[in-house]
Amino acid sequence: MNVRIVEVGPRDGLQNVQATVPTEVKVAYVNALSKAGLQEIEVSSFVSPRWVPQLADAEQVFTLIDRVPGVRYSALVPNEKGLERAVACRVDKIAVFTAASETFSHKNVNASIEDTIVRLRPVVASSPVPVRGYVSTAFYCPYEGKIEPDRVLAVCDRLVEIGCSEISIGDTIGRAVPEDVDRLLERLLSRFAASIVAMHFHDTFGNAILNVRRSFEAGIRIFDGSTGGVGGCPFAPGAKGNVATEALVAEFGSDSGVNLDRIEQAAAVITPYV
Ligand code: HMG
Ligand code: MG
Repeated sequence: MNVRIVEVGPRDGLQNVQATVPTEVKVAYVNALSKAGLQEIEVSSFVSPRWVPQLADAEQVFTLIDRVPGVRYSALVPNEKGLERAVACRVDKIAVFTAASETFSHKNVNASIEDTIVRLRPVVASSPVPVRGYVSTAFYCPYEGKIEPDRVLAVCDRLVEIGCSEISIGDTIGRAVPEDVDRLLERLLSRFAASIVAMHFHDTFGNAILNVRRSFEAGIRIFDGSTGGVGGCPFAPGAKGNVATEALVAEFGSDSGVNLDRIEQAAAVITPYV
């Protein structure tokens, strides 16, 4: 299996929906995704329910899903309180998150980039499960505009230094074009092995699959996708959903190990609610 698709729909997809999605629908969505051949599903977030009320039922979702052996069930964690909640739910992996833009970092987690690293260091050090580190606004910030690769590299260095075993590079507002991807990956992959780098493209302007293709050519084999293309970030105005998992499966075919019919069945569970 050459390509790993990380399904982030239940987390990134559902954190930004206006409607209230019933817990049992989220559970049915994750259960449907579990049958599709995915290796990893980001199920929810253990963030503040005041900040992201859409995912306040993370505990219930984790309790009610049927876990399929071989599938890693992960969740977003912003601080030590989040780690405690995640561990109590027996997550297989956590994802911590920071940004390459100071303004976005403040809007998203009420802290500077440096303060997020300080806050995350003990989380990563004491996590009993592997940790992914997200870098948001790695290409463009909705508040600061274009972000230079040096800033992204500096944040990746810190995430790896505190113990993240994977980094996911977020085009949070979906503005990157393939030339931006080339510029960043040329620098990033001279520093880090492609095997620890995931790309997380949102698809606001329809360039996500082109960016995926360019990343693949550069050596990346881990891609985040959202079934049905649902999603966005509540703290990034205008951000649309992630590249659709369907598009990734169509792009990589059997190399992804994911079954398109099953993904479409999962999409049918969630799309009436988003
Ligand atoms: P804060 O208000 O600065 O923190 O929020 P605080 O420590 O002062 O806590 C405030 C209240 O929240 C307290 O409750 C805490 O107990 C509670 P009170 O005493 O007022 O009743 N609290 C928590 N409750 C449950 N679980 C927790 C937790 N932590 C504190 N873990 C904080 C700081 C980081 C908590 C907040 O800003 C937050 O939760 N932010 C989350 C934002 C978020 O989820 N954004 C979307 C995900 S990132 C994303 O989408 C980008 C990504 O997809 C990649 C890309 O596309 O670029 C990953
Ligand atoms: Mg995202």
